[in-house]
Formats: sequence, structure tokens, C-alpha cells
Amino acid sequence: MTGQTNQETKPLFERLPQTIVPTHYDVTIQPHLDKFKFNGDVNIHLKIKEPTDKVVLYADELEVDHAKIKSSSNDEQKATIDYDKEGERITISFDKKLEKGDYQLLLKFAGEINNRMRGFYRTKYTVPDSDEIRYGASTQFEPADCRRAFPCWDEPNFKATFDITLITPKNLRAISNMPVKSENEYADNKEWKVTKFDRTPIMSTYLVAFVIGEYDYLETNDSNGVSMKVYTPVGKKEHGQFALDTAAKVLPFYADYFNIKYPIAKADQIAIADFAMGAMENWGLITYRETALLIDPKFSSMDTRQRVAIVVAHELAHQWFGNLVTMDWWTDLWLNEGFATWIEYLAVDKCYPEFDIWTQFVADTFARFLVPDALKSSHPIEVPIGHPAEIDEIFDAISYSKGSSVIRMLHDYIGDDAFRKGLHNYLTEYSYKNTVTENLWSHLAKASGKPVNEVMSSWTLQMGYPLLTVIEEQVDKKRVIQITQKRFIADGSVDEEKLQWKIPITVFTKSNPKKIAHQVLMDKPEITITLDNVAEDEWIKFNFNSIGLYRVKYESKTLARLSEPIASKTISPQDRLMVQNDVAALCNAGHQPFVDYLKLLPSYKDEDNFTVWKSIASNIGDLSSLLEYTNYFDEFKRYRLNIFSSIQKKLGWDANPNEDPLSAMLRPMILSIIGKSGKQDVIDEAKKRFERHIAGDLIDPNIRGAVYVIVSRYGDEKTQEELRKLYTAADMTEEKVRLLRAMGQSIKPEIIENTLKFIFEGDNVRMQDSISGLVGCTSSRDGRDLVWKFLQKNWKTLAERFGEKSNFLIAFVEYGLSDFADEKIATEIKTFFDSVNTPIVARPVKKVLETIHMRSEVLKRDSKAIEEFLKQQQ
Ligand code: BES
Ligand code: ZN
Repeated sequence: MTGQTNQETKPLFERLPQTIVPTHYDVTIQPHLDKFKFNGDVNIHLKIKEPTDKVVLYADELEVDHAKIKSSSNDEQKATIDYDKEGERITISFDKKLEKGDYQLLLKFAGEINNRMRGFYRTKYTVPDSDEIRYGASTQFEPADCRRAFPCWDEPNFKATFDITLITPKNLRAISNMPVKSENEYADNKEWKVTKFDRTPIMSTYLVAFVIGEYDYLETNDSNGVSMKVYTPVGKKEHGQFALDTAAKVLPFYADYFNIKYPIAKADQIAIADFAMGAMENWGLITYRETALLIDPKFSSMDTRQRVAIVVAHELAHQWFGNLVTMDWWTDLWLNEGFATWIEYLAVDKCYPEFDIWTQFVADTFARFLVPDALKSSHPIEVPIGHPAEIDEIFDAISYSKGSSVIRMLHDYIGDDAFRKGLHNYLTEYSYKNTVTENLWSHLAKASGKPVNEVMSSWTLQMGYPLLTVIEEQVDKKRVIQITQKRFIADGSVDEEKLQWKIPITVFTKSNPKKIAHQVLMDKPEITITLDNVAEDEWIKFNFNSIGLYRVKYESKTLARLSEPIASKTISPQDRLMVQNDVAALCNAGHQPFVDYLKLLPSYKDEDNFTVWKSIASNIGDLSSLLEYTNYFDEFKRYRLNIFSSIQKKLGWDANPNEDPLSAMLRPMILSIIGKSGKQDVIDEAKKRFERHIAGDLIDPNIRGAVYVIVSRYGDEKTQEELRKLYTAADMTEEKVRLLRAMGQSIKPEIIENTLKFIFEGDNVRMQDSISGLVGCTSSRDGRDLVWKFLQKNWKTLAERFGEKSNFLIAFVEYGLSDFADEKIATEIKTFFDSVNTPIVARPVKKVLETIHMRSEVLKRDSKAIEEFLKQQQ
């Protein structure tokens, strides 16, 4: 097994002993939103398995007092409390030894309702027809922040039941995992109420949730009678309809797929205005960022609709896979997230086949991990995790995208019947318990009779993935193909470790393009296969529907033959998109001349598939930000215009009646590329539409983002002012984020500087949305320089504001700095981050450095030839 474990940065860490286990918590919390403070008490039912005079549990950023323990025979003992700040825990010591037996530990505590979007935190909102700013509060406990709301055994395998009680002002809603059991006036203050909730199932602390604030809601029951609500900001309940409809279809779909009933009586979803991630699967009360849950029937784009469907399907999957059956420790987080990421597609495909979502899986999820996993600084899916602070590091494309791709490959390898059967048995055996990855493999192996564990471990325990090099020869009517496997490394260097995988390989050919002609499990460095009855010149292609986790390098004659089935769309969109994606990666790595990629793209000129274009657009985008550093960028822009112009003509500006959702998503993507390439009539039309938009003739939400980008790029300070005005006036987060993304895409440095100020100074932009604004600013050469200067100047402030261990810092580094192509800047970046001591960005910085190195190598190696090629085209 390989992969860095970055020992140096790991804090010393020990898990709590299994000799004292909690079985039940009575938790009462009383928030004081006017002071951003809360207090509470907890009664924890314990089983003490070995005599002791100390109990250690987690509590952080809390003042804990009044510790008392009661035995089952009602003996009571007071105790003293010591804090271990570093270990985020407290030790409660008793004078008299506690013998084996059942106890109740009683504690009182108080803390701050913080502004860091973790633990128990505040969230800011306004209500219609009022300018008044108000606050609510919400929780975010995964992975290890329950300890910031009440003292507890905050590790996933200390499962217990919870009785939650909230004491809140009467006018606010109080919501938690379970249905309300009782609501009574608070004896101490009749303006307040006491809400008690039903007992939870046996579950992990990171899944506990409670929310306090003003909300409207919509409700329904699913086909199995589960009560479902979607809570929205006040006055916006119809924005919850789409998520509610989706959830009401997805929940019974899972109950059927797993063949296990949804375990509790309600499944609520709520949009929280200040929210660090996309969504969180708290059992019975899923919390979301507004843009991941709310759909304005008139003004949301198709893209957002699809995103909401995906996120809802993801979090609902966790209600079984994660909540009912939970990983034993964070090392297996990938399994939770990889599985949910795979099955979200299955569910969305069932509910919304018009999204053709499995094709999108290949561009958005499969192709996504192939990039970072080709870096030497990658890591295996299964990483040993010590301190939970290390989890943020693996909340990344490897866990989500590679994890789900591995599951997709496995599902294909053993078939749906065996997969479902094994899954059902696994979920049944470990219900209300904890588990590790191997337990799932064992059940799938048993159900399928295939060596699942053996095949899977090569994918989960080592980083990277193979490149298959394919050499073919025609012998009479046979095609003899020699295949070798080696790790694919992004910059083309050789894999010193000589990693090998067990690879399910498929091949298909022209004579039967919809069927696999040959299938084999490659478990050696090199194999030869023979296809019978293949005509001379017949094309062959590996990896039917791009299910296997590998790239393929063909000889030029083999690749050249694939132009035909690409142009005629005989092979699936998944295959069409991966042919160019592999070639782009191979060109970047120096395995073949970059010009090969530019020569291949014209085969796609009649392409009409959204997902294929998305992948091309992404590769062309990378190339564009690279060639911006050359003096033939204008020639490149003309080439790019050529590639995209026929699809743009076909789609035009306005939706056709009854067009499919994918065209609605394709149009803005193409328009903004064409606009950025400088096509004057498109720029003029965008400006015209923007003028009308400001005057009240609103632009179709599907192309609105593209129009904003184009006018921002070519506009002046006045345009920016208009964009900022729209931002301030917008009451829909989706619209605000659309505007933020566009603002920084100006090509005028002073405007980009103003945008950075707008995003980060004052209260204009919520913390979680700032990253969208920052990404916009990196869309030009000058913008990237300014972002880098900005990050250097403000790093300390950012680390303080977002928190030293915040995921946002990772995003700033990865999204802000990856597009450079100059070793000098790489050195600057390295020197700077060596000096700031922010351990959480150690791996991201390595990734960025490797990426910049690779890009600068491409320019050194291929720039001349690319220039010649582009100049010949004009
Ligand atoms: N459980 C995660 C959120 C999480 C992961 C919290 C790791 C803390 C540590 C949640 O299910 C999730 O994956 N959310 C995603 C959205 C999802 C659709 C991919 C997110 O927040 O980006
Ligand atoms: Zn998840």
C-alpha cells in the first residue's frame, strides 16, 4: 500500500476507551439568540464495564459544571472536572470508585452560538417586508462538532438514543431529528416554550441536529406514509416544492431498492441561510445550503434543478447508508460518501430520466477524479484517519468521485441482482451498528460468488489508476491486441512504485458497436487478447461505456479509426467524451504531441450531446487558460470559435417550446464560451438583453448566467455597478451566486480588485458564497495574479475568519491557484505556504505545485508546434 500519511502534521490522538459506553442521552438546550449564548444540561445513561474513578468524554468550547453521577441504586456522587483543550475532552474525577454497572452522568453546560458554521451556530436572515436582520441557530456536527453543543462520546461507534428538549421563544420554530412529542409553556417565562421530541433510534452523535428560527414549510407523505416537510425561508414555501416532490419519490425508491423500510416516522429537509457545505444528512432532519434545496419555479435554472435533485438523492441515501449502518471510524468515510454519490445517480435516473444523468456521471464524477488522482500527491481512497481534524483533507474528489466510480465498476462487475442482494444483507446485518469496508465486500462476494475483496482492494488501498497501452495487429481475420498496464501520472513521469491493478477490461468493435466483444480481468502487467472475425481497418475501442477506472493509450492508427464512430455518434456519449478526455490527458502528460488533441476535436463538430460538450469545454478551458500565457492566444480563440460555432448556431439564444432539459443546460455553456472567444454579435446581443433585463424585461434564467458573464467581461465600471445593484436587490441565493460568479470575470484589473473587495470586505457576501466570487476572478491572467496577491495579503485574516481548519482554505488554494503555468509562481506559492503554517492546506498546495509544473512543461514541450498548427488553420 502506498500514499503519504503526512505523519509530521498529525496531532497525537487516542480514541475513547470502550470500557464506558453511553446508551442514552437526555439533552436540554436553551439558546439565547440576543446574546449568541446557549446553556443546557444533559443526563447520559452509561454502562461502566470496568471499575474506575474517572470518566473521559468530549466537550469543547463549552463551560461544563455541576457534574454528578447517580448509580442504579440511586447513590449520588459529585465530581470535579478537568479540561483537556487540545484533546477537546474533559475528565470527570470521583472520590469514590465507580463499580461495574449502570449509571447516569449529569452535567450542565454553556457555550457560544458561534459564527463559524460548525457545532451550534448562528444563521442570519431577513423576513419579507422588513429590513431587520434576525438570527436563528442551526447545528452541523459531522464529523466531530457535537462536542461543541453538548458533552458526549463524540465518535461514530458510540451509538445511543437521544431525547432532545429545546427551550425557545414561542414565536420561533424548534425542529429536531424526531417528531414533536409535546410542546408546553416554559414555567420560568411565558414568552417561551418547551418542545420535547420523540426518542431517536440508536445512532451516532454526528447525526444529531436541531434548528431554531422562522420558517415556512410544505408537507406531504410518501407512498409508505412517511411524513415529509421542506422548511423554507418565510414567504418562500413554494420554493420547496421541487425538493419535496423529489424526496417523496426518492425515499420509497430507496426503501424498495434496499428492501428495508425507512426507519423513522419523518424525513424533513430544511434550507439554512448560512451553511458551510452543500448538505448534511442528519437523521430525519437534513440540512441544506439554500442553493441545494430551493427552486424558484420561475427563476431557477435547469442546472440548479438538477443539482437539487442530486443533493436530495444523495442525502436521503445516507439515511440508510450512513445513518442506519455507520462506519466504525472516519477511515471508512469514503464508503459513505462514495456509495451515496453512486446511488444518487441511480435515484435521479429513476425519477428524472430526461436528465440522462448516468452519462453526466462520466463527465462530472468519473472524469473528475482522474485529474487529481494522476498527481503524485494523491492518496488512496482508504486513508488511515487519526484525529477527526484530518477528515477535511479527504472530503475530496478521491473519496467522492473515485469512491463512487469504484462502486459503479463493482456494480457492473457483479450485476444488479447480486449487488442488491448483498447490499440488503449487509444493511440488515449492521443496522443500528457500525461497520468497515470489508464487511460490505464480504456480503457482495457471497451474493455474487466473485472475488470482490481481492479485486476491490487494488482500487481502494493504493492511489492512482492505470493507463493501458494498446498495440494491435491484424492476423488474417483476427485482431491480436497486446495490453500493458502502468500507473498514469499527470506529468508523464514513470511510476517508481510500479503499482498494478486488477482491471475488469472490455473491448468492442465496429461490427457490433452496442455490445462487448471481449471481457477479461487483467491481473498482470501485460496480457495479449485475440478478437476473432474482425475485418481489416475495423475500429476497436476499449472500456465500453467508460465503466473501468483506466485511461487508454492507442497507437495513432487505432485512434484515427475512432474519428468515424465519434462523428457518426455510433458509440455512446460516455465513450465519445472519454476518447477526447483521454487524449487531452495524454497530451498534457507528454505521451503524445498536443497537436493530436487539436486535430481530434473537429470530429466532434456535429456533436449535440450536452455532456460530451461539457467535457470538451472543460478541457478547452484548461487549454485556454494555458495558452493565455502565449502570444498566439488570438489564434487559439479563433480555433475555439470554430469548434463551437455550429452547435451555437443550432441552439441560438432562445429555448424552443418543449425542448429537453439538456439543451437548456447546453445553451448557456456554449454562449459563454463563444462570448469569451470574442464573437462580436454574441457580445452585442448579450449587452442588449442585459439592458432590457435591467429595465425589467427579465432574461430566461437558463441563459442569465451566460449573459452576466459576457457583459461583465466586456463591460465597464457602470456594468459592474449594475451587477452589484442586482446582487443587492436579489432575494434568491441562486441569483446572488450567479451574479457573484460573473463579477470577477471582467478583463479590467481595477474591476477585479473592486470585486475582491466587494466579496471579502463588509457584509455583502455570506462566507460560503465567497468562493464562487473568487473563482470568477481567476478567469483571466490579470485576475489570477490579483487573486494570488489577495490571498497572500489576507491569508491570516482569512484563516481567522473561516477557521484554521476550514475547508474553505482548501478551496481558496485549489480553485484560486491551479491555473498558473509558471514555475516562478510555483516557487512563490511554495515559499509563502511554507511560511504560514496552515497544515490543512499542505496537500492542496502540493497538488497546486504539481499542476503548475505539469502545465509549464506542456508549454515548454508543445508550444511551438501548437502555434504552428493554429497559424496554419487561419
Ligand atoms: N455527509 C456529507 C457532509 C460531510 C462530509 C460533512 C464530511 C462532514 C464531513 C454530505 O452527505 C455530503 O456529502 N454533502 C455534499 C453534497 C453531496 C451532494 C455531494 C456537500 O456538502 O458538498
Ligand atoms: Zn454525503
